[in-house]
Amino acid sequence: MKTITNFAKSNEYRSVIHDLIPGGAHTYSRGDDQFPQLSPAAISHGKGAYLWDIDGNKYLDCPMGLTSVSLGHAYEPVLERVREELLRGVNFQRPSVIEREMAEKFLALVPQHDMIKFAKNGSSVTTAAVKLARGFTGRKLIAFPGDHPFYSFDDWFIGKTACSLGVPEEISALSVTYKGCDIDSLRELFAKYPGQIAAVITEPERNACGNGCGCAHGQEAPKRFLQEAIALAHKDGALFIIDEMITGFKTHFPGTLVKYGVEPDLTTWGKGIANGFSFCALTGKKEVMELGGIRRTGTEKLFLISSTHGGETHAIAAGLATIDIFLKENVVAHNHAIGDYFIAKNREIIAKHGLESYVEIVPSNWMPIFGFKDKTGAVSAGMRTLAMQELIGRGVLFQGTFVPCFSHTKADVDFFAAMFDESLETYKRGLEDGFEKHLLGEAAKPVFRKIL
Ligand SMILES: Cc1ncc(COP(=O)(O)O)c(C=O)c1O
Repeated sequence: MKTITNFAKSNEYRSVIHDLIPGGAHTYSRGDDQFPQLSPAAISHGKGAYLWDIDGNKYLDCPMGLTSVSLGHAYEPVLERVREELLRGVNFQRPSVIEREMAEKFLALVPQHDMIKFAKNGSSVTTAAVKLARGFTGRKLIAFPGDHPFYSFDDWFIGKTACSLGVPEEISALSVTYKGCDIDSLRELFAKYPGQIAAVITEPERNACGNGCGCAHGQEAPKRFLQEAIALAHKDGALFIIDEMITGFKTHFPGTLVKYGVEPDLTTWGKGIANGFSFCALTGKKEVMELGGIRRTGTEKLFLISSTHGGETHAIAAGLATIDIFLKENVVAHNHAIGDYFIAKNREIIAKHGLESYVEIVPSNWMPIFGFKDKTGAVSAGMRTLAMQELIGRGVLFQGTFVPCFSHTKADVDFFAAMFDESLETYKRGLEDGFEKHLLGEAAKPVFRKIL
């Protein structure tokens, strides 16, 4: 039954926020155009796997802070460590001793890499990796999979998307794209630009196509692709960067590069590594990372990451506490078990409604993702938004994926499944006579669109 109908404070919030903050939020995927009209506009607080909006409505959280909250909201053992650190001060003129503790602890998790640099955002570390690669190779071009959603809000990436306004064409032209997980497509790129590509950057696997999802490439595809792609890049003299922003602490601990034993030159980390606190990292091989150092007297300096807040102590403390909990509790195993249970349970519900041709769940236990289709079988933003509206009204904050965290229990998954079961009744009606008849307001829009 729909229990959440009061969005009065949310509606007031929505009505003023766009006059104060462009986009109304600080991530486009958090924006009002990404949610149905009947949804919370702002969150008051969270605890564990639950959130409360400003009208006092309670939700089971599925996206977990853009996948960043890997243990749970306001997770006490992390907060304890953060509080202790806060009392010692957060920012000093010289490095804090906690930076060494983190550097040693994180690098011990990544045997492939020797050095680490911290930052507050994922975009800062992917952009730093790109800069290092250009400085190291003396080349200009950066290659990334054109069918992957996001690597940075900086010009080298955004200039190549539909949202290129504000980025000079000369900059966009320095990025070239290939098809994700497709070695032939990458081979063609190297053949077209021999000796010109500074680095290839890619996510190591995606929930939408990896992890035995049954796609044409098969279960071992991501590993085989990474091995071949790294060899191909190195043969041409380019570097290889793996972006573990989403996969880090999810597919494996610490991430896919260890799971598959592959050897990228550089790797970027963020999101779940500090349970939602702003702590990101770039790790890499010494010969490349040293280029950002100050010991190569007599050679040219490369200005890597340099920021007032990069070494903020309490965020690093959150990262240390998160790592300790992942090590002690085998969080990844718990999250995968929840993911497996989630997939099995909700697939049963889909089958019960006979909707297998219209609602699918990709079996990626580290982050199950749904596909919503209309009656012609085409992927449909309108039908996805309808599913969101129905689940949100039943106390589930849902945007199309479920991000298992350490606070999610089987009972939470049972609750999701019960609400999903009810929501599919409306979904079926939407299939018959169109989502517009059942959805209040507009369908969610693509984040990357040229025209608003
Ligand atoms: C794969 C990937 N790389 C980089 C980023 C950028 O991270 P941040 O939002 O922390 O700047 C994201 C963010 O969604 C991402 O998904």
